[in-house]
Parts: sequence; structure tokens; C-alpha cells
Amino acid sequence: MEETKKIPRKIFLKYLWGALSILFFWLWVMLVKRATRSGTPNRMVLPADVPEGVSFFGRVIIVRRNDKLTVFSSRCTHLGCTIKSLNKEGNLVCPCHGSAFNINGEPENGPATENLQQLPFKLENNKIIID
Ligand code: FES
Repeated sequence: MEETKKIPRKIFLKYLWGALSILFFWLWVMLVKRATRSGTPNRMVLPADVPEGVSFFGRVIIVRRNDKLTVFSSRCTHLGCTIKSLNKEGNLVCPCHGSAFNINGEPENGPATENLQQLPFKLENNKIIID
């Protein structure tokens, strides 16, 4: 009669634990990689007929002046809060610490000291495409 070799339960669990640890570590690395994949936001397609003035679209702010379009990131250059409104002076105002930016994206009031990031875009088929 052939004798089968049994792996002791303790050793089996040790190997199983090791394999699961490697699997979870790999999943964690993949999730972090995906979350931090380039600093650029995902592609966004918006209708090109935005009204004159300032329009907020989540992660972007579009300014239309005399048919000239400018696209800014809505991420405040202080600590990254999302800018989603104008104050009574017509400046873009951050809800977190009150930084205000003019419609050229330049800081008017701190604590932010850097301009809003201007995003490249292209116009195609009456759409604004932001990568
Ligand atoms: S994050 Fe905008 S002012 Fe601080």
C-alpha cells in the first residue's frame, strides 16, 4: 500500500497565508497605481456652447469671454479643494479657506499663491474635449 505524504495543517496554513498576503499586496499596489495614474484628469467632453462668463463642470471651470474659451482645473492651488462658485466680486472662490481667483485664474486673495492650472483642450464637432 502506498503511503501518501500529508502536509501538516500548520505548514499548509502558513503557505496559504503567504499566498494570500502576496495576492492582497499585489491588489493594493494595482489600486494605488490606478488611483495615482498620472496627475492628469480623465477625458471630458462638453458642449462648446457654454454661456458667456464662468461655468462650473465638476473638475473643470470654463470661462468664455468674447467667444474665447479658457479651461481651468477647479482644483484650488492651496490644498486642492474644488472651486465651485463665484463671490460677489465675480472671483472664483474656494470654499475651504477662502482663496479667490480672478477669471484669468490668478490669485486675488490667499492663502493660495499660485494660478489655477489652465488645461489644454480642443474643439471638435461643437464639443470641448479636455484630456
Ligand atoms: S484649499 Fe482652497 S483655499 Fe485652501
